[in-house]
Amino acid sequence: MRIDIITVVPGLLEGPFSHSILKRAEDKGIAKVRVHNLRDYSSFKQKQVDDYAFGGGAGMVLMVDPIAKCIEFLKSEREYDEVIYMTPDGKTFNQQMANELSLKGNLIILCGHYKGVDERVRQKWISREISIGDFVLSGGELAAAVVADAIIRLIPGVLNDETSAMTDSFQDGLLAPPVYTRPSEYEGMKVPEVLLSGHQSKIDSWRFEASVRRTKERRPDLLEGKGLEGDFSK
Ligand code: ADE
Repeated sequence: MRIDIITVVPGLLEGPFSHSILKRAEDKGIAKVRVHNLRDYSSFKQKQVDDYAFGGGAGMVLMVDPIAKCIEFLKSEREYDEVIYMTPDGKTFNQQMANELSLKGNLIILCGHYKGVDERVRQKWISREISIGDFVLSGGELAAAVVADAIIRLIPGVLNDETSAMTDSFQDGLLAPPVYTRPSEYEGMKVPEVLLSGHQSKIDSWRFEASVRRTKERRPDLLEGKGLEGDFSK
């Protein structure tokens, strides 16, 4: 998979993709992220990409032309499955969406900035609009990094056994159970006995029950209609 991110602040996306799991995905040739500076597609000498909103009001709007040129250039180079726009009025991102997008081919992600993009960009080029939550960031860049990370780590071959996505929170609709590592006792705080027992089926049951308990306590909304009304209080 290749993800092309279009932004007016490329510097904001310099870090995340050159470290840890995302870097490994690139090194293994599984997922490549490329960041494009929208100003490189401006027809103006001063590289202007935004202008005042028609009708007045505070804030600048990203113009159609540089965005159209950038997207059309990318599309002339390769096929893309989706052109995504990061915006607080998009559909709220979740694990199910990450799973779905991880199965796609190449993606373009357009980051909004200032007051956003000219509505005609959304009408003509955007296939999906994503928000990462009900709050407003200075621009879509950090949101794009969040979405790209959540997608890339799910592509087969990116994670190994130690970092497997199978046991993530949300992957089975439940929050993940508590985890512990050495030492088995720290200043009187003990690791639950069953986790030290070596009895795998008992460990699996404990983890499942701890997951349900944690989900009930913290995110009861996730359990609705799942038929997990039993007593998992221990
Ligand atoms: N741009 C600004 N705020 C955002 C949000 N919450 N999600 C996605 N893109 C954004």
